[in-house]
Amino acid sequence: MSTKDDVLDILKKNADREMSGQQIADILGVSRAAVWKAVEALRGEGFEIEAATKRGYVIKSGADELSAEEVRRFLPRELKNIEINVEKSVDSTNTRLKAAAAAGAPSGSVLIALTQTAGRGRQGRGFYSPPHTGLYMSILLRPKTDAAEAQLTTIRSAVAVRRALFRTAHVDAKIKWVNDVYYNNKKVCGILTEAAMDFESGGVDYLVTGIGINCTTREEQFPEDVRAVAGSVNLRDATRAELAAAVIEEFFALQNVSQRELIAEYKRYSMITGKRITFERGGRTYTATAADINESGNLVVRFDSGETETLYSGEVHIMKDFLNQ
Ligand code: BTN
Repeated sequence: MSTKDDVLDILKKNADREMSGQQIADILGVSRAAVWKAVEALRGEGFEIEAATKRGYVIKSGADELSAEEVRRFLPRELKNIEINVEKSVDSTNTRLKAAAAAGAPSGSVLIALTQTAGRGRQGRGFYSPPHTGLYMSILLRPKTDAAEAQLTTIRSAVAVRRALFRTAHVDAKIKWVNDVYYNNKKVCGILTEAAMDFESGGVDYLVTGIGINCTTREEQFPEDVRAVAGSVNLRDATRAELAAAVIEEFFALQNVSQRELIAEYKRYSMITGKRITFERGGRTYTATAADINESGNLVVRFDSGETETLYSGEVHIMKDFLNQ
């Protein structure tokens, strides 16, 4: 463990009292300056550490314990060294990670923000991202494939979130094509995958998949326009850092799963198949039944006439009377 890890450990074990820099330094056999540096680094990662003059440091437990170090603790050995950055506040983790990608950030980099001031959703919408109550993260990939990979990456993210919620908090979430995760019929997670093309090769230069999970946001906190749809998961004893690590681990694990297995798992937890849905196209609203998700992750819908059609992207709405079935 690094000095920073050790200092964090001591502060957490003594969260009910102040620990002087000297006390911590003595326990660890390091200088007071090293303790101060570690505290500053932890603050930079989002931990709230108060320093009372002459008495010492005290960690304020709670929501801000979402730091790179804390996430790393929960990662398996093979992922311990991935690039993870936790920022206190950014406009959008997707926007920032895309800029980092353009500047050469390595594949596998993760950016988490404690809050987003301009969180982005699909179709130009915003994503409400208040501090303390949610997990907002983006993962950068540099796949050697074509644009179809973007859709599969979204599917992987949705399955990874579902797995992670189940593993850490026993939350049995469902997936709504193509990229929303629902719990108790409320949307608790949105996913936005963005791709940059390499025009020379015609392939994908990089993909950024952004995941926003409402952990403890209360219903009345949500902006009015999303209140009817948006909800939160209850993480019970799990922390956001644990959840973030689980999402990262499952996301990378799913890179090695065949497309057939991935789609099978996605379908198993799909909340849409068999339901009556509506969708918009060319200014018109269509009603149909969600018949199937095909081997590429596209949605096959069946109209009342019996005709079927495949939807490759876009958004569908489950008709209210069919939500609970
Ligand atoms: C949607 O529901 O339409 C997608 C929402 C995606 C939100 C996440 S939060 C982290 C990342 N950064 C963003 O600006 N958006 C994604």
